[in-house]
Amino acid sequence: MEKQTELYRGKAKTVHTTENPDYLILEFRDDTSAFDGERIEQLARKGMVNNRFNHFIMERLAEAGIPTQMEKLLSDTECLVKKLDMIPVECVVRNRAAGSLVRRLGVAEGAELTPPTFELFLKNDALHDPMVNESHAIAFGWANAEQLAEMKRLTFAVNDVLKAMFDDAGMILVDYKLEFGVFKGQVVLGDEFSPDGCRLWDKETLTKLDKDRFRQGLGGVVEAYEEVAQRLGLELPPR
Ligand code: TMP
Repeated sequence: MEKQTELYRGKAKTVHTTENPDYLILEFRDDTSAFDGERIEQLARKGMVNNRFNHFIMERLAEAGIPTQMEKLLSDTECLVKKLDMIPVECVVRNRAAGSLVRRLGVAEGAELTPPTFELFLKNDALHDPMVNESHAIAFGWANAEQLAEMKRLTFAVNDVLKAMFDDAGMILVDYKLEFGVFKGQVVLGDEFSPDGCRLWDKETLTKLDKDRFRQGLGGVVEAYEEVAQRLGLELPPR
């Protein structure tokens, strides 16, 4: 399938239409954004790494019975996906305290959260993705109660699969963000799962292997993402 027109240009991905109205092409760019687009830099290889990483993870999730928009890998930086009607609410699960939870509640970074927490954020850069709850989502028509219940169920199902997968590869899945959409009436996992949208720490050293390296100016961002891929057994084209 070929790219037709550019439908939407996000901070790190461009969405293209195809000749089939049910399918889109996601193009992963090297742009890396933090602080809701306030800081954007191009990091060589990041588009390729995240595209391949996302495809790898979505395949594992599909094998575990989670409906995803992924159809197939098209190239180093592109994949074919189902066209979802996106729900503008982000689902975040946390296994350990970090990031905005630490800032909001003053808890220690790394504190284990048992059971893991579930939060919703409105996808709106201008408002800095404010935290919302289910009643906001329903009252404003972003999603209905059944869709929200399904999003929550699937987000925790993803945790069961990925927490174990990263643990086996020597990493802690600290937290992650998922986005869902609707395809022919079904709630389906969309967007991407990559180190841009989760936190991963080395199990022994607690070294950060995710986008916090970019947010905190730690350097070695793409190198860390490639290390994560390699630990999971995903082979990437050599540098
Ligand atoms: P937070 O600690 O900033 O709330 O983020 C929690 C996790 O969700 C972290 O892994 C980053 C991810 N996330 C995004 O990737 N994009 C977003 O817009 C938000 C709100 C969170």
